[in-house]
Amino acid sequence: MKVFQIGAAGGIGRRLATLLTARGDEVTGMHRGPAQAEVIAATGAIPLHGDLIADSVDDLAAKFHGHDAIVFSAGAHGTGMDQTSLIDGRGLEKAADAARFAGVARFVLVSVFPDAGRDRETTPGFENYMRVKKTADAYLVGTDLDWLIIRPGTLRDEPGSGLVTAGLAIEYGDVRRDDVAAFIDVALHRPALNRVILELTEGHTPVADAIELVLERSTTLRR
Ligand SMILES: NC(=O)c1ccc[n+]([C@@H]2O[C@H](COP(=O)([O-])OP(=O)(O)OC[C@H]3O[C@@H](n4cnc5c(N)ncnc54)[C@H](OP(=O)(O)O)[C@@H]3O)[C@@H](O)[C@H]2O)c1
Repeated sequence: MKVFQIGAAGGIGRRLATLLTARGDEVTGMHRGPAQAEVIAATGAIPLHGDLIADSVDDLAAKFHGHDAIVFSAGAHGTGMDQTSLIDGRGLEKAADAARFAGVARFVLVSVFPDAGRDRETTPGFENYMRVKKTADAYLVGTDLDWLIIRPGTLRDEPGSGLVTAGLAIEYGDVRRDDVAAFIDVALHRPALNRVILELTEGHTPVADAIELVLERSTTLRR
């Protein structure tokens, strides 16, 4: 499979690129700065310069052309409301439009768990982030792409356990970036898992089994 990753040098992105290349997939990783090209190359993926803000929809479509799937795990990472709107918001819309133009139907988006931040005092920046993420989800759901939206709980950098809970509605919790990457790696290779929004936390079920459970329990998803 040829996978195009947006946010490939990020915390989830570089873990996912490593897993995908290890299983023999061909991965193109989009990056903004030269240092990120080295991070991406170290995963075995092919670095390609690109920027969700500077690139047009046509620019992105040209980059996506010939790939089988796109994974979007980019984000402004607390660099300001304007950046959040341009990257997590408009950036996602541009990428989804570009995927359609390029004929790449499979599109996996890393979004956010709706219960995030409930345990602390909120800020305007965080409220904006949550609004932008929801609007981006809604935009992708409104396309005819074979989308899959994953809403992880609070991301952690401890080594992955390989054990998760995944479902349409689950209790809020943390989840390790390693395990989010492992989940996307398996999900990308289960094409029946599409047009669904999944919440994801750490748990007690091996990643591959968690995906099969979601498929089994859904009356709308077909194997
Ligand atoms: N933190 C949490 O607890 C949490 C929980 C749930 C969901 N999430 C979401 O999970 C997603 C992935 O998380 P993560 O830890 O992997 O994030 P991350 O480490 O911040 O990675 C994000 C990547 O996006 C890239 N990026 C930013 N702006 C870009 C642009 N204009 N064009 C192209 N690439 C751009 C970044 O590159 P640069 O280095 O150039 O900026 C970086 O490589 C984020 O969208 C985040 O909102 C986070």
